[in-house]
This record gives sequence, C-alpha cells and structure tokens, in this order.
Amino acid sequence: MDQEPIILMSSREIEKMRQAGRMAAELLDYLEPMVQPGVTTLELNDAAEAWTQARGAKSAPLGYHGFPKSICTSVNEVVCHGIPNAKQTLKDGDIINIDVTPLLDGYHGDTSRTFFVGQPSPLARRLVEVTEESMWRGIQAVKPGARVGDIGAAIQEYAEAQGFSVVRDFVGHGVGRIFHAAPQIPHYGTRGKGKKLRAGMVFTIEPMINEGTWEVEVLADNWTAVTKDRKLSAQFEHTVVVTNDGVEVLTTLSELVPA
Ligand code: MF3
Ligand code: CO
Ligand code: CO
Repeated sequence: MDQEPIILMSSREIEKMRQAGRMAAELLDYLEPMVQPGVTTLELNDAAEAWTQARGAKSAPLGYHGFPKSICTSVNEVVCHGIPNAKQTLKDGDIINIDVTPLLDGYHGDTSRTFFVGQPSPLARRLVEVTEESMWRGIQAVKPGARVGDIGAAIQEYAEAQGFSVVRDFVGHGVGRIFHAAPQIPHYGTRGKGKKLRAGMVFTIEPMINEGTWEVEVLADNWTAVTKDRKLSAQFEHTVVVTNDGVEVLTTLSELVPA
C-alpha cells in the first residue's frame, strides 16, 4: 500500500471527510455509555451497526478482507482487530478499544478510543492515559514540510519514557475513498526521516501502546492481534488532514486540537 501515490484532497473532499469523521466521533459517543460490566462485545457491534444504518452509512469493517463484524472490539491484551462475540462479556476492570469506521457517501471516518469498564487498575489507567497523550503528541507533529518520521518519533519518545512499548506491526495509514492507502504512518521512528507531509494529505494516527513487550501474535481466527506476553495494550486513533499551517482532526465534534 505504500507504493501508490499519496492522494492530496481538495477542500470539497475534505468537507466530505469531515462529515464521515464527525459521524465516526458521534458513533463512539453513542457507544461509550453502553460500555459497562455485563455487556457483550456483540451487543456493542449490533448497536453500532444499527446506528450506522439509520444514518444512511455503512460499516466499512464489515466484510473488509473478510472481517466478519462491523466494528473492532479489542479487550485488555488484544492489540487490535478484536472480533465482537456474543460470548465475550465485559467485566469490571477491563479496558476495551472500540474502533469504528463509518463509510459515508464514499468517504471513511476512522477513529478509536480505549474505554474503562467500571474501575480500572492504576496501571491500566496510566497505560490508557499515556496512549491517548502519545496520539496527541503525534498529531501535534503534523504540519506541511514535517516528515512522517517526526510523528513516530514524538509518539515513541513519550511512550517509552513512560516505560511502555510501541507496537511495530500495525501502522497508521492514508484514508479517504480507500480505507487503507499510502502513506503508512509508523508510531515509532526518527525525526527528519520519511516522506514529507503536504497540505491535503489525509491519514490516521493510531498508536497501539503496550504495557510489556511490543511484540504481537495473531490468533487462529487470523484477525485478533494480542500481545506476545498477554499484558495490556491500549490504542487511540484519529483521522487528520494536513492543512496549510498545521493539522485538522477530522474525527471529532470539536474544532480544537488540545494544546
Ligand atoms: N479501523 C481499523 C484501522 O484503524 C481497521 C479495521 S480493518 C478490519 O485501520 F477489517 F479489521 F475491520
Ligand atoms: Co480504525
Ligand atoms: Co485506521
């Protein structure tokens, strides 16, 4: 996916991406209060699918390379691509990443957050907070003329300084009419290296940060990625566009990027 040219979006297309992105943010806001002990990940999936259909959109994950459900639900040691399941009931102290991608009028809004189920342990709380902050540090590195490596370096330096590790096997990606396009956006790297960012580029920043080793394994279902040591993993994701003077977050209801 990294050989294709990087698409630069027109302002008309960026407005389409804002609409898809806002819908994705609203969907996570809608699901958040359902994240309680006793709910199954399939119930979250089915609520997301119904909500999305009611708004005239599609769930891009459903059937994507054979993915069987409408959202990804990644609990505790699951790094990403967890498959919603009727037998998986959330319990107090779990952490769950919900990753949604509505496809609205031909454009994808890709975003995820990690939620607490009931009361988190102090360690789980710190991992989740560090992961969200690392995503924001990556986002703040985005501006025309910066390099892809600046994003990963900002994320990696912060996460590792906090004693956590950065997943290597999954990266952010260009997104638009295509779900996963060029460029790849690693969440680790070296400042000044990698492709130069230009206004109109649209991509995700979606760091997966682990409590222990960064190494992952994919389970026999060929989707569920787990930490090799079965310790916790957290993730946050936004879709962003490079603007003339910096960055705009598309998968949000607010206009502002926190400083
Ligand atoms: N939304 C995920 C991402 O952030 C991709 C999910 S693909 C699926 O890129 F097939 F697992 F749904
Ligand atoms: Co996603
Ligand atoms: Co993504």
